[in-house]
Amino acid sequence: MMAEIEARLDERYDVFRVAGGRDGDIPADNRFEAVVTGGGSGLPPAWFDRLPHLKVVAINGVGTDAVDLKAARDRNVDVTTTPGVLAGDVADLALAMILAFLRKVPEGHSLVRSGAWQGGEKPVLGRSPRGKRIGILGLGEIGRETAVRATAFGMSVSYYNRSDVDVPADWQRAADPVALATQCDIVVVSLAANASTENMIGEEFLNALGPQGILVNVARGALVDEDALIEALTSGRIAGACLDVYRDEPGIRDAFRTLPNVLLMPHQGSATRETRLAMGTIVLESLRSVFAGERPAASVFKDDAALLPRRIRS
Ligand code: 8YV
Repeated sequence: MMAEIEARLDERYDVFRVAGGRDGDIPADNRFEAVVTGGGSGLPPAWFDRLPHLKVVAINGVGTDAVDLKAARDRNVDVTTTPGVLAGDVADLALAMILAFLRKVPEGHSLVRSGAWQGGEKPVLGRSPRGKRIGILGLGEIGRETAVRATAFGMSVSYYNRSDVDVPADWQRAADPVALATQCDIVVVSLAANASTENMIGEEFLNALGPQGILVNVARGALVDEDALIEALTSGRIAGACLDVYRDEPGIRDAFRTLPNVLLMPHQGSATRETRLAMGTIVLESLRSVFAGERPAASVFKDDAALLPRRIRS
């Protein structure tokens, strides 16, 4: 979180900073009433039993996959996210990676920076985004923002979304993820990770994407079968991948570090000053509401009144 937000937390609460993230040790102190965590880090499931006074898990992000929502609901612990503020930044990063990959920005940067640029050598030609078919896997807020930006670069939009959504007339709906991969040059993964979407990007999907295809993941590593992806990248069955997220991040597979057709970012989709400030402000407001005995506006259970009855303050 940003220093400004951390300072506000320190002003208002007794804050304990616990290192270790998802697999971290259970804290010795069990008096915590709130946990603030990242979307990727979440909360180790065992903490729910360890923290009997817990009222809220405030996620500084939109992904709830690293928090056991059922365990939270069963214990009347609220869970909040930061909706409505980060989709534009994540979409910007998706486009930034696509353009950088197509136009070989990392290679050009390294050439110039290393002093190897002599001038007069044959340019390594990139590819233009114009006329490419982009596929959006999961047309939520992030997917939609990505599609809108892609059209500005001359791409045509297809999407796969489980439920019906309103879209511009020229966006084409694919029947299933593999059909989307078949009809697109670039697929951006912008789906929530859960048991039904885990490993959705596997061998069949990657074969369908094909030797000119580019996979972009700004969602979660668990959506991708990384063995299958490494195989497809190594054998040239797809052209490349732009990855901001990984299954075991911050650990990543060695092959991703060495393959020439991969562009890597360290989970930075929402990492701008403006957005992180907006996210932190929502986290602070969620904590304020919970400690005031109110239902936080950013609760993931907010439409679920029967399941999470309003907390009676002790
Ligand atoms: C953040 C995220 O990088 O929104 C999410 O689910 O993964 C990201 O926005 C993360 O939550 C950092 O706090």
